[in-house]
Amino acid sequence: MAGLIPQAFIDDLLHRTDIVETVDKRVSLKKSGRNFTACCPFHQEKTPSFSVNQERQFFYCFGCGEGGNAIGFVMKFDGLDFPEAVESLARDAGVEVPREESKAEARKHSENAKMLAVLERASRFYQCQLRQHEDKQPAVDYLLGRGVSGKIAAEFGLGYAPPGWDKLLQAIGEDEAQRELLFRAGMTIQKERDAEQGSPSSADVRYYDRFRHRIMFPIRDSRGRTIAFGGRVLGDDKPKYLNSPETPVFHKGSELYGLYEAKRSQEKFSRLLLVEGYMDVIALAQMGIRNAVATLGTATSGRHLTRLFRQVPEVVFCFDGDQAGRKAAWRALETTLPLMEDGRQVRFLFLPEGSDPDSRVREVGKESFLSEVDAAAPLERYFFDHLSEDLAIDTIEGKARLGKLAKPLLAKLPRGVFAQLMLDRLSDLLGINSESLDRLLETEATPEPPEPPPAGMPDRPLPPAIRRNAAAGRQKVYRKPASIKAIELLLRNPEMALTIKQDLSPLHGDEDEARKLLLALIEMVQNDPNTETFTLLGYCYGSSLDGQLTQLINGEKITPQEGIEDEFHHLLDNILSNIVRKRESLQLKNELKSRVSAVKSSES
Ligand code: UTP
Ligand code: MN
Repeated sequence: MAGLIPQAFIDDLLHRTDIVETVDKRVSLKKSGRNFTACCPFHQEKTPSFSVNQERQFFYCFGCGEGGNAIGFVMKFDGLDFPEAVESLARDAGVEVPREESKAEARKHSENAKMLAVLERASRFYQCQLRQHEDKQPAVDYLLGRGVSGKIAAEFGLGYAPPGWDKLLQAIGEDEAQRELLFRAGMTIQKERDAEQGSPSSADVRYYDRFRHRIMFPIRDSRGRTIAFGGRVLGDDKPKYLNSPETPVFHKGSELYGLYEAKRSQEKFSRLLLVEGYMDVIALAQMGIRNAVATLGTATSGRHLTRLFRQVPEVVFCFDGDQAGRKAAWRALETTLPLMEDGRQVRFLFLPEGSDPDSRVREVGKESFLSEVDAAAPLERYFFDHLSEDLAIDTIEGKARLGKLAKPLLAKLPRGVFAQLMLDRLSDLLGINSESLDRLLETEATPEPPEPPPAGMPDRPLPPAIRRNAAAGRQKVYRKPASIKAIELLLRNPEMALTIKQDLSPLHGDEDEARKLLLALIEMVQNDPNTETFTLLGYCYGSSLDGQLTQLINGEKITPQEGIEDEFHHLLDNILSNIVRKRESLQLKNELKSRVSAVKSSES
C-alpha cells in the first residue's frame, strides 16, 4: 500500500473503468435518454435526481449536489480514501496498482511497519494480561463495574497493563532493536541517567514501561492497525488517562477513536456521533449504538470532520453537559462552517449538566438516547440561538449586534443552498429584506477578498457574467479566489487550455495550492489535447484541494456557455497580473528597505 500512485496509472484506470458499471453494481441504474438515473444514494429522496453520464464518465446529483468520477463515487459510497478507492477499482479491472517510492520513503515505510508490528504485539500482550495476569481481578472488576461486557472488551481490544516497571519490556523487548522500537513507539520512557549510580550499563535498565496498572484502550487506525494506546487508572488517581505521545504512526489531532470498530460492526450508518471520551464510545457500543467515535482529548479539527463526512452525510456532536463541553461545541461549530457543503448535516446534542454520553445512555436507555439524537439541534438552530443568547434581539441594537456577529461566520460557509438559507434566516431575524442585508454585509469592511481585481481595470470590457457578479452584493462576500473559479471552468471545458495566449511564466514557481493546481491542469491538457474532464478530476482527487472538489465541479453555472471562454481568459489575466504586481511591490519594498538601511549605515 505504500508510495504514490503514478498519475498515468490513474488515467489509465479511469479509461478502463466504466462509471455506469461501477455505480450500477452498488445502486441499480435505469437508462433515461443519454443518461442513467437512480434515487441518490447520498441523500434521502423519493424521485430520482441522481444521474450518471456515460459519455463524460461523470455522476451528479441535482438534489444534493454530490458529483464526480468513478473514483469519487467509490470513495463516497464505500467510505474509502483515495488510494483505497483506486485499489478497489483496480481489483475490479484486474490490474495491479503500481507505486512510486523513493529510497527514503521505502526506509520510512519499513520502519513504520516495524513500529506497527511492535504495537500489535503490545496490544496482544495487554489483552492477554486482562485474561491471565495474577493481578487481573481489579481490572476485570473495574470494567464489569462500568458495565463493559467481555464481548465489547474483546471487540475493542481492551487490555490491562500490569503493575511493575518493566512488564512490557520483559515480555517483548527481547533485544536492543525491539527495546529501541518500543521506545520510539512511545511504549517506554527513557530513564534519566542518574549520576550517583553511574551510567546504567545493562540495556534493559535504560527504559521503563509508560503504562502501568492501567486499563488499556488500543487506538486503531481506520484499517484496524494499532497505532497508539490510551491507558486509564482503575480508580480516581490523576492523571486519569495517559496517552501515547505523537509518533511517526500516531497523529493525535486527526485520529478518531472507534471509527474502525464502527465500520467493522457492519451496520450501515447515515450519521456518526462524535463524543469526547473513550468510555463514551465503549458505553454506547455496549448499549447497541455502534456509530460513535471520539477525538483523543483534542479539539475537533477540520481533518476529523473531513474524515467523518467521507463516511456519512451527518455528524452529531455529543459533548459532555458541562461548561467545557459547551465551549467545545461552539468551537466545533466554527470548525464545521467551512465544510458545510450542501447535503451535509450537523447537529448538536446538549446533554444535561453533569452527564456525558456514557452516563446518559445508561440512564435513559438506547431508544430514548436515540430519540434525543434525532431531536438534537441542527447547526442552523444552534448557530442563531447561541449568537442571540445574550442579545435583546427585539431591539435595534441587538439586531445590529447579531448582524455583526453572524457576518464573519456566515462568510466561512461554502457557497450553496445552505449558505443562502442561513442568510435568509439572518435577514428574517433582523427583520430586513435580503437586499438590505446584502448592502449591510457589504458596507462594513468585507472579509478580505481572496483575489482583489487589479487596480487599473482591464482594457477589454468585462464579460456579462462578471458584470452581473460584481453587481450582486452577496457574490462579493462569498467570492471564490479567481484561481478556483478558473479551475471550475477548465474542468468543465478542458479544451479551453488550448486557447491560452497569455504568458504563463508568472505561475511557475507560485506557492499557492490552487494556482499550482490550475497550472498543472492547463499543462495536462496542453500536453495531451484529448484530456477529458474525468482525467482532470482524477488528478484533482490526489491534490490537496480535493476537499473542495465537489464544489469545483458543481459550482453553480452562472456563465452562459458562450461567455465561458471570455471569463476564463479574464480570470487568467487577473491571476497573472496579480502575481506580477505582488512580486513587483515586494521587490520595490525590498529595494526601499535596503536603500534606507544603506542611508542609515552611512549616517552612523
Ligand atoms: P473524559 O474524562 O470525558 O473521559 O475525557 P471518559 O472517557 O469519559 O472517561 P471516564 O468515563 O471518566 O472513564 C475525555 C477524553 O479526554 C482525554 C481522553 O481521550 C478521554 O477519553 N483525556 C482525559 C486524557 O487524555 N487525559 C486525561 O487525564 C483525561
Ligand atoms: Mn465519562
